[in-house]
Amino acid sequence: MSFIKQTNKLITDKVKNMKVTIVGAGNVGATCADVISYRGIASEVVLLDIKEGFAEGKALDITQCATNTGFNTKVSGVTNDYSKTAGSDVVVITSGIPRKPGMTREELIGINAGIVKTVAENVLKYSPDTIIVVVSNPMDTMTYLALKATGLPKNRIIGMGGALDSSRFRAYLSLALDKPANDISAMVIGGHGDTTMIPLTRLASYNGIPVSQFLSEEVLQKVAADTMVGGATLTGLLGTSAWYAPGASVAYLVDSILNDQKKMIACSVFVEGEYGQNDICIGVPCIIGKNGIEEIVDIHLNDQEKALFAKSADAVRSMNDALKSILV
Ligand code: LAC
Repeated sequence: MSFIKQTNKLITDKVKNMKVTIVGAGNVGATCADVISYRGIASEVVLLDIKEGFAEGKALDITQCATNTGFNTKVSGVTNDYSKTAGSDVVVITSGIPRKPGMTREELIGINAGIVKTVAENVLKYSPDTIIVVVSNPMDTMTYLALKATGLPKNRIIGMGGALDSSRFRAYLSLALDKPANDISAMVIGGHGDTTMIPLTRLASYNGIPVSQFLSEEVLQKVAADTMVGGATLTGLLGTSAWYAPGASVAYLVDSILNDQKKMIACSVFVEGEYGQNDICIGVPCIIGKNGIEEIVDIHLNDQEKALFAKSADAVRSMNDALKSILV
């Protein structure tokens, strides 16, 4: 009894009536629901999937963890019934097909674009005030699509890639340093692609001390390279796209929104002149709070980083060209 009391994740007053919908009950969506429930980030989680009974099954499985891991979040699943998602504060879109080994995220565009557009439109019918977090790949292009298709203000459409890439960067730095990941501060900006993301090695620190004081240039380059192919490495090992870190990264982002934490997280957001770019969604440091993207933080990049960012933006922009036929 006392054990249960100690470990019970009570729903805080702030998130008492907070509802999160996760569209797509595959590995990423279900992990996201699991972490959000376990950590008491929302009072209600709805999982939605098009596959009959799938979301219901995942939700029931998560619900049955409650007495073991100690949480109070209500988790339910529905088959394609958007009315059950009504009044969601945040909707996470994970739907679409994941990568297979050897595939790039960009190769998914044709299939996933139609799915993401339909999902975003359906979601808004029942949750007109929601904040949308986009996970489906190619994530920057899908974020741009969700923004253009819905016409929502840019603060309410958040692409989650940078949160994930930054957590992988910190994990690889932690392994190289043999120090706890939570003592490491590091960020990845740019596109969420194997060749477009930019791990900001120069700015990474171990408890405020630049990591370059502890790691050689060669090791730092390897850490950056491993980070960039972080997702592809896992796809090769698992035969499909990763889910634990993606699901946890979404939960981290949702926590900052629902609890108005105002954390600085790299997210894909529509830029209007920031970092010298326009009319794309790309990963930049953002303050994330109850209004979604509350600020784009303008950090000073050196010439090399600026050049990498411009190249990354070009790649994201040309990817978006494939959307033209879908958006007309
Ligand atoms: C990854 C997918 C979720 O990077 O984009 O693992």
